[in-house]
Amino acid sequence: MEVDLRSDTVTKPTKEMLEAMFTAPLGDDVFGEDPSINELQDFAAKLFGKEAALFCSSGTQTNQIAINVHVQPGGEVICHEESHIYKYEGGGIAKNSGASVRLLQGNRGRITKEQIDKWINPEHDVHFPLTQLISLEDTANRGGGAIYDFNEIKNIRKFSLDRNIPLHLDGARLMNALVETKINPVEYASQFDSISLCLSKGLGAPVGSVLIGSKEFIRKAHRVRKVFGGGMRQAGILAAGGLFALKNNISRLNKDHLHAKLIADTLCNCNWIKEIIPVETNIVVAILKNENHRDYVIEALKEKGIKTIAFGPGMIRFVTHLGIRLNTR
Ligand SMILES: Cc1ncc(COP(=O)(O)O)c(C=O)c1O
Repeated sequence: MEVDLRSDTVTKPTKEMLEAMFTAPLGDDVFGEDPSINELQDFAAKLFGKEAALFCSSGTQTNQIAINVHVQPGGEVICHEESHIYKYEGGGIAKNSGASVRLLQGNRGRITKEQIDKWINPEHDVHFPLTQLISLEDTANRGGGAIYDFNEIKNIRKFSLDRNIPLHLDGARLMNALVETKINPVEYASQFDSISLCLSKGLGAPVGSVLIGSKEFIRKAHRVRKVFGGGMRQAGILAAGGLFALKNNISRLNKDHLHAKLIADTLCNCNWIKEIIPVETNIVVAILKNENHRDYVIEALKEKGIKTIAFGPGMIRFVTHLGIRLNTR
């Protein structure tokens, strides 16, 4: 038996999800006529108490569209130095939006209002790029699935409103955070101008992310999606998988978190492990005693049918998801 713990993106659609996809009503979405995409967008917007949503091909696309809407060429995005929008989106902030970045260090992928306040550029000094977007990631992937303290988010929101700087959330794994904290999605989303939510991570859909925000924001995002080549036609077949995921796969995320804790507990007893980053959601990051043994350990686990992934020097990542059924007796 093989257990693939490399990422929660490796899930395959279940029979029920496939059934929903194959029977989805379809139309041409560039004409706005795909009923399944429209339903997913309405459902996602409503779930978060926002006016509108836009179905996109990936989390990278939703993040990059949001950045493009919020930021002018020459402007600056402020975010954590290990955030996905900066580290893993191929330089898209510069390439797609002509913007620069101010990178902040911070505990497990998270930044604070105090830091942002310190590093925001002075608006009236022409030497500096204008800080035009604050972007957070919750849960933080490089932080080992760490969850933001909601009070910190509220502090950042207050600051962003005072300074008139929009606040974006890369919520690729937002549902993992909300299931764990039990914070109401509407209350949570009220703190942000735009949210990118991935359907293809822990939620288990094969493709897609939704970008969520005000009507005006989504109107602009729609145009940018077209320019980025992201206008799709009968993509309701994909959206139906995402809608199924939102309707059926949220509360079960608790199971993934439990499985992650079990994996962490087991690893703690291995004499080759130096430390396990405390598990908050579905990501386990193990730090090895001997940094040089990382690739050997990954290979040895693979030979036992357990697939994992390198996560930096001496670090291995294990991610749980709906394809993993552990014996939790
Ligand atoms: C935190 C985070 N944001 C965004 C993305 C991008 O998603 P996608 O692979 O759909 O482009 C990922 C992908 O793993 C991610 O972990």
